[in-house]
Amino acid sequence: ETTPDEAQFDDLIARDERIEPRDWMPDAYRRTLVRQISQHAHSEIIGMQPEANWITRAPSLKRKAILMAKVQDEAGHGLYLYSAAQTLGATRDDMTEALIAGRARYSSIFNYPTPTWADMGAIGWLVDGAAICNQVPLCRASYGPYARAMVRICKEESFHQRQGFEILLELMRGTPAQQRMAQDAVDRWYWPALQMFGPPDDESPNSAQSMAWNIKRFSNDELRQRFVGMLVPQAEALGVTLPDPELRYDEANGCYAMSPIDWTEFHEVLAGRGPMNAERLRRRREAHENGAWVREAATAYAAKQATATRE
Ligand code: 3HC
Repeated sequence: ETTPDEAQFDDLIARDERIEPRDWMPDAYRRTLVRQISQHAHSEIIGMQPEANWITRAPSLKRKAILMAKVQDEAGHGLYLYSAAQTLGATRDDMTEALIAGRARYSSIFNYPTPTWADMGAIGWLVDGAAICNQVPLCRASYGPYARAMVRICKEESFHQRQGFEILLELMRGTPAQQRMAQDAVDRWYWPALQMFGPPDDESPNSAQSMAWNIKRFSNDELRQRFVGMLVPQAEALGVTLPDPELRYDEANGCYAMSPIDWTEFHEVLAGRGPMNAERLRRRREAHENGAWVREAATAYAAKQATATRE
């Protein structure tokens, strides 16, 4: 027997309407949104680190300014997403504590090192490119605050992807050493970027329910295919080779045939045993500790303001 609240929620979902913070929602809907949105927010914040590594070493003032703008954007994306999660009752302190304690997930992709400048191009082109494929459908997610945060984020992601493509294009038009550096970065980031979309559909425990609730609009494998379809012509334009000798368009099935993805590596990274997991959390913990005085000052100031207005 469904209650009137459940019936109303089911009707809103069936009519593909938005669920807003004050609407009744099943606890499981709230929980899976806090799960996904907080992890998305953590990913944006941790995602600042690989690129921050090159802000002081960018090859020109122009590149330095662009990279700083991109890293600042990621911080803002984290802010929008933490705020969206807070509309569901999650608190910033709990989410931050879970991340710092190593209890929260964030995107696997940010656990890889950025040894050369070409990594800034590969991250923009591949990681932000994958993010766009994943985030554009999320602009139509059933939960209002999440969908609206995505609209703003997607606008900034396209700039992130374009500047990455341009870095690689400049390197591919450079010396043989620069071309090798660009190809090396593409070789290192291609497979982890495919893993960003999540496990294969038949190993994705959250997908069915997430799609039934209009949170996830396309499956992990569908978006992975869409991403590869976007990459192939762009790789040709760049003159880089995608590191998969099996990659070819399978006309009969209307999809890209590719080499098997190494899901063992994916699960190792998710278990915290990726190349940079420990460093990312150490750095995030350090930033949180360094920022304690700002939070204390803000709290003290707010308390003084509250007293002043009472007097
Ligand atoms: N990294 C870490 N964990 C991942 C993952 C990845 N790339 N892909 C899947 N997982 C986790 C899931 O969180 C889930 O674990 P959980 O139940 O403990 O949360 C488990 O693996 C099984 O995966 P599912 O497919 O069942 O999980 P979802 O239905 O949540 O799908 C997802 C995974 C597609 C990543 C989905 O959560 C999603 O769309 N999230 C929002 C997008 C996002 O987080 N993007 C991160 C990229 S960061 C970014 O975009 C920054 C940009 O500016 C560069």
